[in-house]
Amino acid sequence: MMDAESGIEVSATPKRVYMEDFGCQMNKNDAELVVGRLRMDGFVRTPIVEEADVILYYACSVREHAEERVFGRLGQLKRLKKDRPETVIGVMGCMAQNQKERIFERAPHVDLVVGTQRFEDIAAFVKDLDHHARVIAVDQGEVSYRRDVSERPDQHQAFVTVMRGCDKFCTFCIVPFTQGRERSRAPEDIEREVRALVDDGVQQVTLLGQRVNTYGLDLNCGESLASLLQRLEKIPGLRRLQFITSHPTHIDETLMRVIRDHEVHARYLHLPVQSGSDRILRAMNRGHDVDSYRRTMDMVRRIVPDMSLATDWIVGFPGETEADFDQSVRLLRDVEFQTSFVFKYSTRSGTRAARALEDDVPEVEKARRNHVLLAEQETISARRHAARMGELHEILVEGISKRDDSRWFGRTAQNWIVVFRADRDLSGQFVKVKLVDSTALTLFGELVEA
Ligand code: SAH
Ligand code: SF4
Ligand code: F3S
Repeated sequence: MMDAESGIEVSATPKRVYMEDFGCQMNKNDAELVVGRLRMDGFVRTPIVEEADVILYYACSVREHAEERVFGRLGQLKRLKKDRPETVIGVMGCMAQNQKERIFERAPHVDLVVGTQRFEDIAAFVKDLDHHARVIAVDQGEVSYRRDVSERPDQHQAFVTVMRGCDKFCTFCIVPFTQGRERSRAPEDIEREVRALVDDGVQQVTLLGQRVNTYGLDLNCGESLASLLQRLEKIPGLRRLQFITSHPTHIDETLMRVIRDHEVHARYLHLPVQSGSDRILRAMNRGHDVDSYRRTMDMVRRIVPDMSLATDWIVGFPGETEADFDQSVRLLRDVEFQTSFVFKYSTRSGTRAARALEDDVPEVEKARRNHVLLAEQETISARRHAARMGELHEILVEGISKRDDSRWFGRTAQNWIVVFRADRDLSGQFVKVKLVDSTALTLFGELVEA
């Protein structure tokens, strides 16, 4: 429709976009940036898939299951597309980058495949569909990181991508293929974004990178994660700063001292180890062995004693014997992690492990090992939580408890979840709680002061 006075094309009803995201926080964050871009272009977001003019899946490739879930979702849209052929269906993110045209082959009713380096042009791609039957954009591009800081799902906390890509090429992992080589963002640019977020009410910022502790290396000017943290800790109004995810080979004393020396830094380190067997770590091309990992963890705890440690494990990697697995159990017990994320090995086509190694651990055995590690972790988590009773902690309140609407929950600087009772909405505030009860996953607290 044409606006009579200005002559500008205007739409009577704004187009509606449905977005669902999968995978890691970076994917989620990019999905939000895409929604932000479309909003600037006049779209509104809808939570109802059937109502949408544009349906987008921001999809992950890290395990086969992740991709199959999205193919399942796409399958369910066949009918809708038949009834309403003008609806745009798109796949974005790592899965778009990884599967490329194969998405059209398996799901011919998809219109749009946009990879990890072209997502910022989303509005133009949607428009291109007026002239083309399909659009695919999976070539290399520059990500500008341009962002409207007020467009974010959470008022009190925000994620900031500081680097993209991974150069490590662990043999099992698809990420270096979907995200490309490591590219760090200029520190001044990151600082500007964090300041703008804080000015807009954000109190907690999480820096994102696939191997965030190698931040700055590719800039060749002496920048590092440690120097970035020091730059950001000075921003007035920023109350908590954290980063995910790290790789064990670049955790040094300088970084730990920076964290120790300023209260803005969260006491939370997610440092995936993957296995407790040197043989398996070598086959994974992890670049560290069990001993060096243990020494790193000792160093971390020596410098930052209250650091909460989280890790990832892969069970059933090709060739993993019962003896290898036992070594993972032993390492988990010895380090006493607070949290473990456990994954069953999944062959990713194109990776070195997929080419050279047979996926020889049976699915039932993978499931058993998965269960054993999680059960071991639960025991440790419960014990570590129980040892904290009576302590006072400052938490950032995130919202109302999903289980009980008279309770609220927030997180401590160690990333522990604390549930507590309050008679008013304290979301976005830092409050003090005294820990009075616990399970493996949750701590329960009493409000001490608002
Ligand atoms: N960049 C992060 C990891 C990204 S993937 C890092 O290096 O820490 C998140 C986790 O998924 C990994 O730590 C690993 O435990 C798991 N993972 C990756 N590829 C996998 C595969 N092919 N099969 C099973 N789990 C996998
Ligand atoms: Fe994947 Fe390894 Fe890079 Fe992590 S460090 S993203 S596991 S290749
Ligand atoms: Fe998945 Fe890509 Fe993240 S493969 S885990 S969405 S980097």
